[in-house]
Amino acid sequence: MMPPEESLAAPVLRTTGLHRRYLLPRRALFGPRDSVHAVNGVDIAIPERGSLGIVGESGCGKSTLARLAMGLEPPSEGRVEIRGQDLAQASGPALKLLRRAFQMVFQDPYGSLNPRHTVGRIVAEPIDALEKPADRRQRVEEVLRAVGMRPADLDKYPHEFSGGQRQRIAIARALVTRPALIVLDEPVSALDVSVQAQVLNLLRDLQEQYGLAYMLISHDLAVVDYVCRQVAVMYLGRIVEEGPASLLFERPAHPYTQALRQAVPSAAVANRRRRRARLPGGVPSQTRLPPGCAFADRCPIAEARCRVEVPRLREIGPGQRAACHLA
Ligand SMILES: Nc1ncnc2c1ncn2[C@@H]1O[C@H](COP(=O)(O)OP(=O)(O)O)[C@@H](O)[C@H]1O
Ligand SMILES: [Mg+2]
Repeated sequence: MMPPEESLAAPVLRTTGLHRRYLLPRRALFGPRDSVHAVNGVDIAIPERGSLGIVGESGCGKSTLARLAMGLEPPSEGRVEIRGQDLAQASGPALKLLRRAFQMVFQDPYGSLNPRHTVGRIVAEPIDALEKPADRRQRVEEVLRAVGMRPADLDKYPHEFSGGQRQRIAIARALVTRPALIVLDEPVSALDVSVQAQVLNLLRDLQEQYGLAYMLISHDLAVVDYVCRQVAVMYLGRIVEEGPASLLFERPAHPYTQALRQAVPSAAVANRRRRRARLPGGVPSQTRLPPGCAFADRCPIAEARCRVEVPRLREIGPGQRAACHLA
């Protein structure tokens, strides 16, 4: 058992030196096996009630990081701690308790809800799997109300709802175990722009109301800026910049964050057209990372040293860290 003061001080989630490699199929019978380095040395910490946004282009390792944080797959190296406890060491009832503290919401509100189950059964699923509490129905009704649905929706099926309502149902399901942390992987990317802001507002309200911590993943800097206090920018499996959301949005230090920032129009989230980040050049191959800074080939200010020396993440201002030789 951990002393109480220590468990209080521990972040709800901490990753240390996290790596995840995937072996690819051999291209020739006796040829070498390439691997994809999807997560390449990631350290993050999310305090209780904190919110960390993870932003970066498609393929940079965000969903892999989420799966590692949720314990859905093991890291190749490094560790994941939940409230100070090493996830890899937990088993039996301790693991059950840790699992209850973490819930996840996925991008696709169509694919993530079983079409043959009623909303009531879908939302109750995490508590049914863990404890089957006596107040099951009240808890399901409470979380449905909290996400703006009605108790009468309990007996309906997912196809009777819009995309935004289905994502509300998925959020209710995540809330029902009274978790400490919800990992949201592109929670609004599949929704109409008009609905995105409503769901983001709901997420902000719920965080306050339930004292939740969030890890919110998006390719869109504006989405994480809207909901999260802290932001980490990922590029090819590494965090390249990290700091308070407002600072990263207003004064991004890393050329990659600057490019992401420019891809976002500046009007309020509620009434603007969202564009996907588009940068010059392509993302380099993750099976053969370049020797220096992985962003050098696309970087407008890269110098000779950027192509030979990997920049370390370092403090560049109060609370702001960047992995760039020139920041
Ligand atoms: N199970 C897997 N097997 C092989 N490669 C994978 C697997 N999962 C992810 N990858 C690769 O890892 C990289 C990161 O993927 P992912 O974490 O899904 O990125 P993101 O969520 O940022 O789009 C990609 O190159 C992807 O193809
Ligand atoms: Mg993803």
